[in-house]
Amino acid sequence: MDIYKIYVRGEAREATAPAHRTLLDAASAAGLPVMVGCKGGGCGVCKILIVDGQVEHGMYAKSALSDDERGAGYVLACQARPISDVTIDFSTEDGRRKPEVECIL
Ligand code: FES
Repeated sequence: MDIYKIYVRGEAREATAPAHRTLLDAASAAGLPVMVGCKGGGCGVCKILIVDGQVEHGMYAKSALSDDERGAGYVLACQARPISDVTIDFSTEDGRRKPEVECIL
């Protein structure tokens, strides 16, 4: 089984993610703050930026993640699974940091 590292840009925190596990599950298990809503790829609340590495995007609604956002590197953490080590960024599209919210699993 492939296991990848999830790094947080600008922070010392990291998580380990088996390839079958979503970024949301892996980040939550490691105590990393990812906002969560529907957990089904439909709301976009868990959107994060991948600044390095690759993921499989999984199934999601275009209303939750537009093609432009995907092209810019955003993924839905509740659906995306790593296929390499990845570095994520919790900043929003306007550069502000998302509030720290505990995952509810
Ligand atoms: S939590 Fe709704 S799209 Fe991920």
